Amino acid sequence: APVTASVSLTVNGERQDLDLDLRTTLLDALREHLKLTGTKKGCDHGQCGACTVIANGRRMNSCLSLAVMHQGDEITTIEGLGTPDHLHPMQAAFVKHDGYQCGYCTPGQIVSAVSVLAEVKAGVPSHVTADLTARSEATNDEMRERMSGNICRCGAYSNILEAMAEVAGRDA
Ligand code: FES
Ligand code: FES
Repeated sequence: APVTASVSLTVNGERQDLDLDLRTTLLDALREHLKLTGTKKGCDHGQCGACTVIANGRRMNSCLSLAVMHQGDEITTIEGLGTPDHLHPMQAAFVKHDGYQCGYCTPGQIVSAVSVLAEVKAGVPSHVTADLTARSEATNDEMRERMSGNICRCGAYSNILEAMAEVAGRDA
């Protein structure tokens, strides 16, 4: 029989107590146990970013992480960012700039995009900024680099960048 463990997570502000097979990924815990299917499973191997969520303030690929490693963590998924009636500014910008086609990568793109702007603000280094002084404005190169873990098979990259630039407060 599989070995289970109880895990408590706070997901989108709500405490969730789960009994999970130790091998359950955070992604499967969200999708299959909590029915939060906004977070997508693309590759299930850390290579597409469709499963991006925010854990304790840092974005991560939820397919690569075991749920039991997140005891006590605060998790934010796309469902926690906005609702159809009250879109998050990044969601509204994706709509306005056609930042998607099929939409499969979109929740991960939006969660990542929100985190990227926060990372830039907080001066978290990226490959592009590593040798630069942290600054509060993301250039297109920085944003592209920071978004490089989020793959879009439809090639909506330039529209995604426009949406991010708008939310960042400047033209792409
Ligand atoms: Fe997690 Fe692709 S599903 S990175
Ligand atoms: Fe289709 Fe990105 S919109 S994969």
